[in-house]
Amino acid sequence: MAKQKVLSVAAAAMTCLMLSGQAMAHGDVTPQGVETGDLTKLGEEWLEENPYRGKDNENYAEAVRIGDSAYNQNCARCHGLEAISGGIAPDLRELTPDYDGDEWFVYRVRNGAVRDGAVYMPKMADYLSQEALWAIRTYIESRRDEM
Ligand code: HEC
Repeated sequence: MAKQKVLSVAAAAMTCLMLSGQAMAHGDVTPQGVETGDLTKLGEEWLEENPYRGKDNENYAEAVRIGDSAYNQNCARCHGLEAISGGIAPDLRELTPDYDGDEWFVYRVRNGAVRDGAVYMPKMADYLSQEALWAIRTYIESRRDEM
């Protein structure tokens, strides 16, 4: 790698460090890896429905706990603290906790949102595991009570 390239990569990494933790309304972010602990492992292939859904689910409490922290680290800067949208990006509690809501959720986290080359939302599934993303979905569903 040429020296200049190394320097510019280092500069970019530095910029990310400085910006992380601040509210940012664009796609230039490095999502945080998430420990998914004891949650049931799901494999590579994307499921069509939230496997941790519902208070009777043995994974529910753990999914909400992990999802809370993962959401607030990776999604809140655009979608709002505690899943309450501040208007920058849609309020994710609006997605119904069913097959249709799941389909749209999976589509967006895998594809992100890109228009005219501008990244409005990064492809979060490139950074976070399926387990972490369904945990986030479960956390968001738990927040519907306060709508
Ligand atoms: C950099 C800002 C940003 C981050 C970070 C971000 N999003 Fe988004 N997200 C958006 C924007 C903007 C839209 C609206 C895109 C559009 O409609 O074109 C969106 C749309 C969505 C939608 C579709 C919602 C709807 O009602 O249509 C889902 C689901 C979603 N995001 C999930 C997530 C999750 C989960 C995370 C964290 C893992 C996340 N997003 C992180 C900006 C972001």
